[in-house]
Amino acid sequence: SEMSYVMIKPDGVQRGLVGDIISRFERKGFQLKGLKLYQTPQAVAEEHYKDLKEKPFYPALVGYICSGPVVCMVWEGKGVVASARKLIGATNPLASEPGTIRGDFAIEVGRNVIHGSDSPENGERETAIWFGSEGLVEWTPTMTPWLKE
Ligand code: GTP
Ligand code: MG
Repeated sequence: SEMSYVMIKPDGVQRGLVGDIISRFERKGFQLKGLKLYQTPQAVAEEHYKDLKEKPFYPALVGYICSGPVVCMVWEGKGVVASARKLIGATNPLASEPGTIRGDFAIEVGRNVIHGSDSPENGERETAIWFGSEGLVEWTPTMTPWLKE
């Protein structure tokens, strides 16, 4: 089913927000399929953000993503892409609603703590970039009857 690639950016790791952020996705009810702490090579950051290559902030963005370890995750479930974007909040943290991750934890677009795929297609594309073809774990969550009617 649908997958979102979600990544805690270096500022989120440095600021000790990893546990809180993972907890929000767990409690929402999505299934964790992949998880790792990762020092991003420049080529991987460039591939991930290739659609933004012409933007003036692109070099700073790639530098930011590579500036320290990130936490790479894949979350699966019905509607997970749009739901993750809601949990994350608007790109500019000053416009993000309180209660969202960026709304609660950030003030600048260039230090906005977390990434989430913007479409199911990009969920697949980004999962392939960061986890390859064998990086995910297949497992059966015992909570399913309590989450799905
Ligand atoms: P992601 O989930 O990280 O992809 O964010 P998004 O989908 O909300 O925004 P978008 O894909 O348009 O931009 C990707 C990332 O580039 C943002 O999350 C920001 O970290 C960064 N970014 C976007 N716009 C700006 C900008 O105007 N200035 C700077 N410095 N960074 C920006
Ligand atoms: Mg984006």
